[in-house]
Amino acid sequence: MSEHASWDPTAYGRFAAERSRPFADLLAQVHTDDPALVVDLGCGHGPATLTLGELWPNARIVGVDASEAMLESARALDGAGRVEWVQAELRAWDPASLGQAPDVIITNSTLQWVPGHLDLLDAWVEALAPGGWLALQVPGNFDAPSHRLMRETADQHERAGELGAALDLPAVGEPATYLRYLTRLGCAVSAWETTYLHVLDAADEEDNPVLSWVAATGLRPVLDILTEDDERTAFMEPYAAHLAEAYPRSPVGVLFPFRRVFAVGQKTTA
Ligand SMILES: C[S@@+](CC[C@H](N)C(=O)[O-])C[C@H]1O[C@@H](n2cnc3c(N)ncnc32)[C@H](O)[C@@H]1O
Repeated sequence: MSEHASWDPTAYGRFAAERSRPFADLLAQVHTDDPALVVDLGCGHGPATLTLGELWPNARIVGVDASEAMLESARALDGAGRVEWVQAELRAWDPASLGQAPDVIITNSTLQWVPGHLDLLDAWVEALAPGGWLALQVPGNFDAPSHRLMRETADQHERAGELGAALDLPAVGEPATYLRYLTRLGCAVSAWETTYLHVLDAADEEDNPVLSWVAATGLRPVLDILTEDDERTAFMEPYAAHLAEAYPRSPVGVLFPFRRVFAVGQKTTA
């Protein structure tokens, strides 16, 4: 199941500018000057978490992630030991383990991998210090050609059953879903969506940059299952051809629209 999808920090680190922008846009709506404790849930390989330390130099920063490969990369990047890196599955992670109430909980591009993630928000808001902030961003692109074609190609594969199950990701909410949910938990909420029009591979150096993008994220469950060369080829060849058709090269590069859903709540109750 997708919660155990493998992660490759190097592959994920490609398109760093495109991947870091939603984190910055999310953070821009967290209006606090000097938080004592900031937690990044699903911190990944570290660069985004390290920017939290730069933004709030006095804060204790904790990064939590299930993937040892991502955390290893994060620790290597954090030579100064600025961040406390913690390995934990988010459904099992206990905010009480922090030993103090967090002022900011941020989770960027992660909750789409966590089944039943709405339920987790209850405990996270409860754990926040009074006036604390919960900020989340999830992709809202599961009906985009990149993902639809992935499911359709999986349907045609000899291991369609397993692939279909692995691609049956937990649903993410709409902006209104998170706005209603966090409001009910006692937050003042701002929720919105943005469709980024990424321009990939402007230098025209590779055939299929959209394939490179998804191979580091949404395609991980497929790659984890199809470990044999021939069965992987039987998926990748048709999928790459469908992607190339759906995302043709334009004079400026390959245009890749990517919708994302954001919500930021400030706890108004004690
Ligand atoms: C797409 S990456 C996002 C990383 C980082 N937040 C960023 O913005 O670059 C998703 C991360 O969520 C982690 N993850 C996925 N499911 C998880 C879970 N159930 N518990 C903890 N971490 C999880 C993965 O290991 C991965 O590092």
